[in-house]
Amino acid sequence: MQRKILVTSALPYANGSIHLGHLVEYIQTDIWVRFQKMRGHECHYVCADDAHGTPIMLRAQNEGITPEQLIADVSKEHQADFAEFAIGFDNYHSTHSEENRQLASQIYLANRDAGHIESRTISQAYDPEKEMFLPDRFIRGECPKCGAADQYGDNCEVCGATYDPTELKNPVSAVSGATPITKESEHYFFKLGNFEPLLREWTQGDHLQAEVGRKLGEWFDSGLQDWDISRDAPYFGFEIPDAPNKFFYVWMDAPIGYLASFKNYCDRSGVDFNEFMCADSPTEMVHFIGKDIIYFHALFWPAMLKGAGFRLPNRVYAHGFLTVDGKKMSKSRGTFIKARTYLNHLNPEYLRYYFAAKLNNTIEDIDLSLEDFQNRINSDLVGKVVNIASRCAGFINKRFEGKLSDSLADEALFKAFTEQSESIARRYDNREFAQAMREIMALADKANQYIDEQKPWVLAKEEGKDAEVQAVCSMGINLFRILIAYLKPVLPRTAEQSEAFLNIDSLQWSDIGQPLLGHTISVFKPLMTRVEQDKIDAIVEESKENMTATPAPTKNTENIDPIAEEIQFDDFAKIDLRIAKIVNAEHVEGAEKLLKLTLDIGLTEKQVFAGIKSAYAPEDLVGKLTVMVANLAPRKMRFGLSEGMVLAAGPGGKDLFILNPDEGATPGMRVK
Ligand code: MSP
Ligand code: ZN
Repeated sequence: MQRKILVTSALPYANGSIHLGHLVEYIQTDIWVRFQKMRGHECHYVCADDAHGTPIMLRAQNEGITPEQLIADVSKEHQADFAEFAIGFDNYHSTHSEENRQLASQIYLANRDAGHIESRTISQAYDPEKEMFLPDRFIRGECPKCGAADQYGDNCEVCGATYDPTELKNPVSAVSGATPITKESEHYFFKLGNFEPLLREWTQGDHLQAEVGRKLGEWFDSGLQDWDISRDAPYFGFEIPDAPNKFFYVWMDAPIGYLASFKNYCDRSGVDFNEFMCADSPTEMVHFIGKDIIYFHALFWPAMLKGAGFRLPNRVYAHGFLTVDGKKMSKSRGTFIKARTYLNHLNPEYLRYYFAAKLNNTIEDIDLSLEDFQNRINSDLVGKVVNIASRCAGFINKRFEGKLSDSLADEALFKAFTEQSESIARRYDNREFAQAMREIMALADKANQYIDEQKPWVLAKEEGKDAEVQAVCSMGINLFRILIAYLKPVLPRTAEQSEAFLNIDSLQWSDIGQPLLGHTISVFKPLMTRVEQDKIDAIVEESKENMTATPAPTKNTENIDPIAEEIQFDDFAKIDLRIAKIVNAEHVEGAEKLLKLTLDIGLTEKQVFAGIKSAYAPEDLVGKLTVMVANLAPRKMRFGLSEGMVLAAGPGGKDLFILNPDEGATPGMRVK
């Protein structure tokens, strides 16, 4: 039976770039969607930028642009990244859209009229200078429990305590630096408790993974709290109907953004929005999300939909978080890798395959081990899959004018391949991608083993063995075709190139059982190359470079690097700081931020790559003095050896300062 499925991924915030962590989710969803489409189901995959909220408003102010301009720029960037990773959204929209304004009002008003909204006055921290209420994240102060300085308004990163922002000692506004005052304001609350019986039942059904259902059980035990869905002006969002100067909290209209994007798509494609949205819809609605946003999707969202008379989601599928080399992604280690940085160096399908090989249907975190990544791609994709085609295609093209044999040389082997089709399909449908990849690679091993045993390259040298060479290579090509069909949800571009090479229509799951017999293929072009170590090094280097080039300083502490781990005096004393004279400076080909400097430190000269291109042209630097760390171990960078570090201070961008020549300083002088 044909399924009709609306699929979503969580909407990325419009105030930052897409990174590899996000991509776990978009790749997971996209593979699932491509699989459903290949099976002949009607599947619509929509997403949008999550454009509202205080951080976006403040970032736009800091950049001196309107929030509308900011979200337009970011949307462009996000969509370009997604397109290159072959994320096949049927529609990509924004929560700051007319459709969303309209649907958010409709859902709010229906809930209000049904008695699910209540207003009451609360006291909140207020920045008297900036004249705005402060979200917890924008208040900093000393932890009331352990006294640690500079902690967030809701929890302490040092001792782990959670508290109310009013308990912070010596609080300051992270926006203006002013001391917050407490001010009263009327807020609107969604009465989640009204939906407790529904939610208890819904969360224990098959809508969620079992482990997620269990987790939610604990939340019920601690009681369902009313949810504050309003924010005071100034706020970038939608004004609440009949409540001037009150805005919907970003998380209120964000999930509605799924429907808004779908509505926008329906309006231009002719798909029936109401058929999908009505309370007893025969269609499916499936949300893919990260484990950090389960509460919103498994409690507030179904309740809001129910209160407004809409259909509920069929499934909410949560995944775990990405770690890199076993640790949280880190800017200083160069493992906070942006989608764009990856794309500058490597084929996006490698990452799609690697994530597929790691993903299952649980909320366990998944680790990107850079070494394992390289090995896996080289051995599985290049060494096993693509290799089959390259071993067989040459003979078929050169000796038989591209023509495959009229019959299969090994029916049983072909059958062993097609027989797996339902088992692999089940793995995809259940999001057990890792298991699916294992089954597919086991088949690839079998195909290579077959070719190894038949040795077409030996047969080719023998008299009168032409038909055999053709038969063996045709068999190999047929096995390759099945593997590509199985991998197509993961490797859509490679599949497309393979379809061109095989000279066939776009592969569907139902085609798998029919072999290509007496069929003419095209010329084989290499489909993939190995992952080389220098590409991975370059990604890590560039991710570190991204860090030093953090954009203009803001009072928004989200952009201020925390003070590094404490060091002892001995550690400090080891650093040999010297006055250095810049005797040469040049551009580095291919480096966005680096200049190559030659530094005279008295006894010797050192070569250093410094990320100061934003502030200086090479010719402005020659003759200037700077301070360098002279005893830093040399580091091999993508562009060459760097034998130290120069110290420059300033907020970044154009304002990065090094010393001007001064009579009192000589190259090589120790800095005290
Ligand atoms: N805007 C909200 C979602 C609103 S949905 C109605 C949001 N945005 S986000 O940009 O922070 O995250 C988008 C998705 O990416 C979320 O599902 C989140 O869990 C996921 N991930 C963000 N960082 C991640 C990792 N490091 N690893 C895996 N997934 C991650 O939340
Ligand atoms: Zn503390």
